[in-house]
Amino acid sequence: MKCVAFVLEFASPTKIAQIHLYGAQAIKVEAVEEGLDPTVQMLRMVVEEYGWYPCPSFGPFNPYQVEGPKTISYELIEQLNWDSPDWVMIPVGSACLLTGVWKGFVDFHEMDYIDSFPKLAAIQSTGCAPLVRAFKARKDPFEIEPWKHPNTVAGGLADVLPWDGDAALVALEKGGTAEAVSDEEILRAQKLLASTEGIFAEPSGVTSLAGLFKLVDRSVIDKDETVVVLITGSGLKDPAAVMKTFEGAPTIKPSIQELEKILNSDGNLGLP
Ligand SMILES: Cc1ncc(COP(=O)(O)O)c(C=O)c1O
Repeated sequence: MKCVAFVLEFASPTKIAQIHLYGAQAIKVEAVEEGLDPTVQMLRMVVEEYGWYPCPSFGPFNPYQVEGPKTISYELIEQLNWDSPDWVMIPVGSACLLTGVWKGFVDFHEMDYIDSFPKLAAIQSTGCAPLVRAFKARKDPFEIEPWKHPNTVAGGLADVLPWDGDAALVALEKGGTAEAVSDEEILRAQKLLASTEGIFAEPSGVTSLAGLFKLVDRSVIDKDETVVVLITGSGLKDPAAVMKTFEGAPTIKPSIQELEKILNSDGNLGLP
């Protein structure tokens, strides 16, 4: 099966390498009109022109997508001994992930595996937060406005329009919330998760954790509540985000003098 993947022009080169290795052809598409996703524009064109099968990771063009993330909820209910958590923190771009997670809980509720629903927290970046803006303005689910200029370290969440935002807003109305976090908060959460848990997540994938800190700080979430934080992407998909935060590794010859020069040049280090 041939596959062409349209990606945003700032897509991480390592993500593109992965697409290539799996056998697809990645093509970067430049944004030409504000508030319009150029990859979706291309998708519509090739469907119309060539009859290609559309397979993006959101509902309106691909109703099967939601069937994947719903199994996250099945797994987490099982792993919590068939009990619901109080909260699930979810990074949001197109909002298909959140919608799928909600669908999983609805399924389990219908099958009587759970009798209460967890609250969902939709977390976006302040550099692209159309769903958070719509939630806070209590917008009608069909009146979500696109974000004009996405600019965020969380590249995976830079969807100008949350295509599944209508379903997501309905899910959030059942007691959930939506919040945006800055690049700085995302990178702080990324470092904390790596240094305390040994999990290297990409910025998009750790936005959920940054959101948890914010919502605990604001007393929306209580420290005693059971919270599941979805960490959704490996840091190896976007190492450039980390490389920007430090100067890189110095190179030395194998010599103690050279080593000490480096160790002493950094006030915090010195000989261990
Ligand atoms: C790592 C990561 N986490 C979360 C999401 C959000 O998923 P959705 O676009 O379904 O909201 C994405 C989207 O691509 C992603 O790349």
